[in-house]
Formats: sequence, C-alpha cells, structure tokens
Amino acid sequence: MSERFSRLVLALTQRQAVERLFTKSAGRRVAERFVAGESIDDAVRVAKHLNRQGMSVSLDYLGEEVGDTAAVGAARQAYIECLEQIHAEGVDGNISVKLTQLGLAFDQSLAVDALREVAKRADGVGATVTVDMEDSRYTQATLDVYTQVQSELGNLGIALQAYLHRTDEDLAVLATLGGHIRLCKGAYAEPPEVAVQGKANVRAAYQGLLAQIMDQADAYPAIATHDAELTEMAEVLASERSRSFEYQMLYGVRTGLQNEIVSRGHPLRIYVPFGAEWYPYLTRRLAERPANLWFFIRAVLGR
Ligand code: FDA
Repeated sequence: MSERFSRLVLALTQRQAVERLFTKSAGRRVAERFVAGESIDDAVRVAKHLNRQGMSVSLDYLGEEVGDTAAVGAARQAYIECLEQIHAEGVDGNISVKLTQLGLAFDQSLAVDALREVAKRADGVGATVTVDMEDSRYTQATLDVYTQVQSELGNLGIALQAYLHRTDEDLAVLATLGGHIRLCKGAYAEPPEVAVQGKANVRAAYQGLLAQIMDQADAYPAIATHDAELTEMAEVLASERSRSFEYQMLYGVRTGLQNEIVSRGHPLRIYVPFGAEWYPYLTRRLAERPANLWFFIRAVLGR
C-alpha cells in the first residue's frame, strides 16, 4: 500500500459528503467488521467471546476531539460504566482512552482530572488504562497529561508511534515511569518534519524501537502490529532477554495471525472499539489497506 493512497483516503473521508454516505447503512455494515457495536453490552459480549478464545481485550469507547465539558463528562461516565461491567462480568480486559475525548483539545486540566478519575476507578477494580496516541498536534500534551497521572497512580500505559522522529527519546523517558508501553506504527497522515515517510522506513523505525523497548526493564512492552515480520522479531528479542511482553492487535484485523499467536502460547490483547462515534476510527482502518476500501465500495453498491 502506498502512503499516497493512505493520505488520499484520509483526506477524502474527512469530507462531510463522504461521511454522510459512509454513515448510512452500507458504512455501518463495513464498520461491523472493525467495531463491536454501539453499546457497552455489545463490547462486553465481544470481549467474552475473545476471552474464550484465549485473548484479553482493551475496550475503547469511540469518540475524539470533543468540544465541550458535557461531552467530556459523558465520555468519562461511559468509561466508568465500562470498567464496572468489565469487573461485574469477569472480563479479562482493560480500557483504552483518547485524551481529546476527555477534553485535551480545549482544556488540558480537564483532561488530567477526567483521566485521573477514570484511572482511579480502574484501580478500584484491578484494571489498567492505556492512553491512545492521536495526531502530532496532541503528542506533547498527551505525554504531559499521561506523565502527571501515571506518576500519581501508576496503573496506566501509553501508546507510542514508531513513525514519529521523537519517539526514541520519548520512549527512554516514559519507560522510567513503569506501566505498559504500546508500540504501534502510527495511523495518521503526518508531514516529513514530524514523521518518517514510507512503509519500509516506518518498519525500520519500528524495528529499532522494538529492540529499545525490550531493553527497558521498568516498562512492559505491548507489541501492537499485524506485521508478521515484526511479531517474529519481537518473539526473538524477548526470548534472548527472557522477558515477558504481550502482543496487541485490532478487532477484525488479521484474525488468522491472531489465532496463530495464541496457539503459539503468547499473550495477545485485542483492541475492541465500541460506540456510536465509529466513523473516524473506520477511516483510519480503511486507509491502512486498499482492500478495505473496495470492501466498502462493494457494500455501497450492494454487491
Ligand atoms: P501494516 O499496516 O504494515 O500491516 C501489516 C499487515 O496487516 C498487512 O498484511 C496489512 O494488510 C494488515 N493490516 C493492517 N491494517 C489492516 C486493516 N486495517 N485491515 C486489514 N488488514 C490490515 N495508531 C495510532 O496512531 N495511535 C494509537 O493509539 C494506536 N493504537 C493501536 C492499538 C493497537 C492494539 C493496534 C494493533 C494498532 C494501533 N494503532 C494506533 C494503529 C497502528 O498505528 C497502525 O496504523 C496499524 O496497526 C497498521 O499497522 P501494522 O503495524 O499492523 O502494519
């Protein structure tokens, strides 16, 4: 897949007319492949199914870039309910949050308070919270909020994007805070000043960081990729160091590889998104693979 294709898909799908087309029934059908459903019950049902297959989960209540305190309150409440359901239903799982859903885009202190409240509730039910990484406008603020709350509570983890030039330095600093570090390639269209360009270069950056993360004694590596070459490299590096780690993959992506990893006896966590705000998440999944876009076009045409 070319990077130009990804950029084109991301630019196109940000247009309102395309969004209207997508969010009608055809888009919903495509979303079902990547999203558990709209309610917490849907997410818990999928989580239990995955648990039975030997996989843990990270539940993500979809939503990003909210613009008012009422929406932040609603997201915070949804996460707290999600944690209570995880606990009540005995789900093997944690949650993933986006800080712009907790107010980061307009009030950083609100995001700190909301993350702290969610993380405290998670602690109360013995769960952890992973902070997703969004586009580079929010990188520094996300790291600042994470550092503050993780230093206070210690039950958090964070996603780092291999394509960012800054990530090796961020990784060295964040690893000292403990917690888990989810290493992913990065899903947003970023300029060359900010991020490595080209699939091969992003993979090379990921390989370098993989070696770095496996050498960090204080942080737990979460290897988030569907790239089989990288999953194999992670296995080799971890076994040379006799260290524990987990793989992470997205709900609905490369399920064959997911099953293979579990059958080899490795811990695998599936990122399970749910909620009504599935559109931006879906556009990133479509941009990652041309075949997904054709799948959508066929659904629109009813074929
Ligand atoms: P790559 O894109 O090279 O794909 C490897 C293989 O998987 C290929 O065969 C490809 O076809 C297949 N594949 C990949 N994506 C697919 C898709 N959508 N549909 C079908 N097949 C697909 N990003 C971010 O910026 N911030 C974040 O917080 C997170 N969080 C996150 C959590 C978890 C658990 C995962 C697995 C990923 C993320 N990501 C993310 C997304 C990540 O940055 C990246 O965009 C995707 O994982 C795709 O990159 P791969 O490493 O899978 O490789």
